[in-house]
Amino acid sequence: MSVPALPIVHSVADLRAAVKAWRQSGERVALTPTMGALHDGHLSLVAQGRAQAERVVATIFVNPTQFGPNEDFDAYPRGLEADAALLAGAGCDLLYAPSVGEMYPPGFATSVRVTGLTEVLCGAARPGHFDGVAQVVTKLLLQAGTDLAIFGEKDWQQLTVIRRLVADLNIDCAILGAPILRESDGLAMSSRNRYLSPAERAAAPALYASLRQAAEEIAARAAIDEVLARAREQILSAGFSSIDYLEARSADHLTLVTELDPATPTRLFAAAHLGRARLIDNISIPR
Ligand code: PAJ
Repeated sequence: MSVPALPIVHSVADLRAAVKAWRQSGERVALTPTMGALHDGHLSLVAQGRAQAERVVATIFVNPTQFGPNEDFDAYPRGLEADAALLAGAGCDLLYAPSVGEMYPPGFATSVRVTGLTEVLCGAARPGHFDGVAQVVTKLLLQAGTDLAIFGEKDWQQLTVIRRLVADLNIDCAILGAPILRESDGLAMSSRNRYLSPAERAAAPALYASLRQAAEEIAARAAIDEVLARAREQILSAGFSSIDYLEARSADHLTLVTELDPATPTRLFAAAHLGRARLIDNISIPR
């Protein structure tokens, strides 16, 4: 069965007009922001959008302001046609794919910074990254004016930062989290998995396997520092070259947890390098 082509808009004005028309006719609209190179994890956000709203708008924008000078902005995989076909098949109604000039026209001078939450984990390893994320997500939410927006728990810190800025800036959009979609061997789906060689791809599931084992041991009351030291060794001996972080933190405020407290929902967070890829993952510690 052929799927009709997905309408694509490139300007804020066209995006707003489409969303406004739907909302005026009483339809709820969901937004799923992405940087493209879509996989089933992204498409699960669209599916959640369909379940929560009558219309789903996806965005594809490889946002230069969230990449560091030595990161993979230029190499980041791009393929609008293939992505549009996947979105159409997933039941998306509209794709917004702005140019860098549409998002950051000459004279652009406004930054958005969420303090505290952005200074740990990926924020410590990637200075300025969350300033770029906060800036572009604020713009996308205000440009689109949808009822809700969906972000993946794969990027738990990002989701936490977005919830904070939406509350702080009174942005009238409900933020929903979506569970992490994984390959059958446990590796969290990610556009950056494309960077892995076959041997690296075979080693990659060790990150999640180590996190899972560590979460179970901590839930069984083993000492967090000892468990994480063992997990660290496992990840490195699987072939990862370095670990940016492997920590237990509170799910809501991302404060460091050194002893399990049943009253505080706690997660393990990891980022580690494998070949050209930097993989991140996180898991809840069962209570
Ligand atoms: P990107 O990495 O393309 O991810 C887009 C959305 O898909 C994010 O909300 C991310 O958490 C979610 N996602 C990615 N992999 C997933 C998986 N395996 N399971 C569930 N959800 C997954 O995150 C960004 O883009 C950007 O920072 C963005 C928010 C678009 C701002 O530029």
